[in-house]
Amino acid sequence: MVTALPLERLKTVDSMGWMKYAAWDPEEYIKALREAGFTDVKMKDKTSSAGQEFQRFMLPKNAYLEEEAAALCNIKPDHHVLELGFGPGIGLKKAAEYVEKGVGKVHGVDFSPAMVVEAINNLPQEIEDEKVELVLGNVASLPYRDDSMDSIFHANCYYFWPDIPLVARDLLRVLKPGGLMVTVLSLEGLKTVDSMGWMKYATWDPEEYMKALREAGFADVKMEDKTSSAGQEFQVILSSKSCLQEDATLQACEGES
Ligand SMILES: C[S@@+](CC[C@H](N)C(=O)[O-])C[C@H]1O[C@@H](n2cnc3c(N)ncnc32)[C@H](O)[C@@H]1O
Repeated sequence: MVTALPLERLKTVDSMGWMKYAAWDPEEYIKALREAGFTDVKMKDKTSSAGQEFQRFMLPKNAYLEEEAAALCNIKPDHHVLELGFGPGIGLKKAAEYVEKGVGKVHGVDFSPAMVVEAINNLPQEIEDEKVELVLGNVASLPYRDDSMDSIFHANCYYFWPDIPLVARDLLRVLKPGGLMVTVLSLEGLKTVDSMGWMKYATWDPEEYMKALREAGFADVKMEDKTSSAGQEFQVILSSKSCLQEDATLQACEGES
């Protein structure tokens, strides 16, 4: 019996949270084979194109979602924008274009050291110009002040959050009154990945996510079908922070008198 696996890629995918509940450790697998009675069980390093193929296949597929999410935020040059789970940094790069000529800044949080390193490598100029600031951290404890972000966006990310209601409350805290949160996903893509067993323990149902946002206090929560400029179908979930605060004081929202 021959079992092939791209170990380096598995480690990266694991660090992104995709393999949290999958028993991918080859040592465990080898042990199980031996215990089942297989003999001469051994792992060898080989050189093949399989691992690279996987990487090339995954990243460009998500690129349009990242760029569309940044575009839907309606970012102005003086805005402070936050991306959650930025991965290789495609959305951060797009968002940075909108603040390039102003005093705005793009902030990003991702809990995967591998992804933070990749984003740093992909955004050297934006980081040097202080237009992009990255944090290695968990969305469950955001290191930002109350009412500090004009918009927040994320692509293919909420499925892995440890506690969606808790994260939603903290996102509402950091969003400015009148601010917008843009969540992008591909329902078709998610259904395919789910049918392959990858999403078994991920909370990807958009209805559950939207319910958590509403319960946290987000306003105008709705999902819309969209088509990217290159013709790909995707979904966006829009939600905002009301200008009317709990103490019933009307806060000044940008663009309102
Ligand atoms: C499926 S990847 C999507 C990456 C990128 N947004 C894209 O669409 O290409 C999910 C990303 O979210 C990050 N992530 C998952 N759970 C997280 C958490 N609790 N806190 C911070 N980042 C998280 C992962 O490290 C990974 O970069």
